[in-house]
Amino acid sequence: MKRVVDRSITHQDPTFSERLIAWQKQHGRHQLPWQQTRDAYRIWLSEIMLQQTQVTTVIPYYHRFLQHFPDVASLAAAPVENVMALWAGLGYYTRARNLHRCAQVLVQRHGGVFPDDVESLAALPGIGLSTAAAIAAFAYGTRAAILDGNVKRVLCRVFGVEGFPGQLAVERQLWQLAAGLLPERDIEAYTQGLMDLGATVCTRTRPRCENCPMLSRCVAHETNRISELPMRRPKKATPEKRSVMLWVTFEDELLLEQRPPSGIWGGLQSLPEIERLGGNPEAADWVTESQAALADIGEIAELSVLPEFRHAFTHFRLRVTPIKIKLAHRYLIAAQATYHWRDVGTLADAALPTPVRKLLEG
Ligand code: ADE
Repeated sequence: MKRVVDRSITHQDPTFSERLIAWQKQHGRHQLPWQQTRDAYRIWLSEIMLQQTQVTTVIPYYHRFLQHFPDVASLAAAPVENVMALWAGLGYYTRARNLHRCAQVLVQRHGGVFPDDVESLAALPGIGLSTAAAIAAFAYGTRAAILDGNVKRVLCRVFGVEGFPGQLAVERQLWQLAAGLLPERDIEAYTQGLMDLGATVCTRTRPRCENCPMLSRCVAHETNRISELPMRRPKKATPEKRSVMLWVTFEDELLLEQRPPSGIWGGLQSLPEIERLGGNPEAADWVTESQAALADIGEIAELSVLPEFRHAFTHFRLRVTPIKIKLAHRYLIAAQATYHWRDVGTLADAALPTPVRKLLEG
């Protein structure tokens, strides 16, 4: 029987932070260059560089940047081009422009000193809530919750948080959870521990659960849902295309259309189609359109609308209404070069799409 785990999210859970802090002290990272300081400027610089970039890529950029701009004042005074030049290769260049603007705001309005509270930090250019909390915690020991992509993954797994974390309601829940889990002391080791756990153990693919301090209390592990949590972005509804297939015969011959070389059924021979995306045309409209499409092909003797069928492609569903038409007369020249007539006795050899063959063979 499947074991049901109902561990509702608590906001008082000291064992989580205790375990995390103990684990960080023993197994976490301690030698990263920005861990050797409480200088808010250096911590801020590292957090901005680390926002979308791996630690190993950041390290040389971090050192070089500090050689040129050792403090807020020197950065604020520099031409933006010099800042961009030092950022070149790191990517996401808005970060560099914001960094420069932020330094200028700090000098102009804060006396060149970083504030120690999350709200004031998050009001500065390029500093979001999570980065503000990391700076406040690492530089000033401020008790504040971080919530970046790695932390979201850890929390979703350990606490079995359902839903796509990019969705506002889920993100709110995660912020509440993150705030409720904060320890009374050791915020630096705790914050670094969350980052370290997400980056080195609770990785997106192939997490090293055997090394995890939360193993015995991880909902995702307990319920065998590591690969499901955090939940992925919900798929957009598959669009539906509607089409009419014209099953046109004249005596023993069938009208076929050569499909273009690429796209669905590329290069195959199929029934002529009238397609459209969505919409819900009446059968009567389809009949009118079919008659118009055949105006240059021949004169209709009999016409019947057959039951529709569906066919699933990777990115859309096709809903097809076949219309069976017998021609009384056929004009000699087909209106389009892609049309041709084929003896129904030779259809076994024709390159027909499977649903079309099924339709024709009944
Ligand atoms: N990613 C974001 N902030 C980090 C930090 N301070 N150390 C390591 N990786 C990080």
